[in-house]
Amino acid sequence: MEQDSVRGIPFDTLLPRIRAIVGNTSRETALKRVCAILNESVPHYDWVGFYLVDPPGSRELALGPFVGAPTEHVRIPFGKGVCGRAAEERATIVVQDVTREANYLSCSVNVKSEIVLPLMKGTLLLGELDIDSHTVAAFTDADRAFLTAVCECVADLL
Ligand code: SME
Repeated sequence: MEQDSVRGIPFDTLLPRIRAIVGNTSRETALKRVCAILNESVPHYDWVGFYLVDPPGSRELALGPFVGAPTEHVRIPFGKGVCGRAAEERATIVVQDVTREANYLSCSVNVKSEIVLPLMKGTLLLGELDIDSHTVAAFTDADRAFLTAVCECVADLL
């Protein structure tokens, strides 16, 4: 993991901080602190939250710890919206311009782009990391690589 040389974001220093949190506190607190670190440290991460498969093994997501504006989307069935589609496909989805995405659940008119990454334990989907940005096309390959590493680390505590 390296510094994002284009925008000067120190992804390489954030990951060890996130690893330390995940190893040292309860699940709810750890997830909330990971949200807070990401939101505070990366200017284009305006809303950061976790959705967890609830009940485990079902086909529905429940909103977990998050930092940012409250959302009405507290439960999302698989397939619905970007989150539901990422769960269905067990794949990372990046939407660079949410106004051009038909299967999208809007939380705020300020949101312009979004990334959703699956939290996997082996082949089991545990939940997702969802990040919204107020900037169009905010998420690059550097974000994707960094956040994939964050998800691998977070999945260990779920
Ligand atoms: N935009 C998401 C819904 C969750 S909010 O962004 C917090 C979606 O389309 O699934």
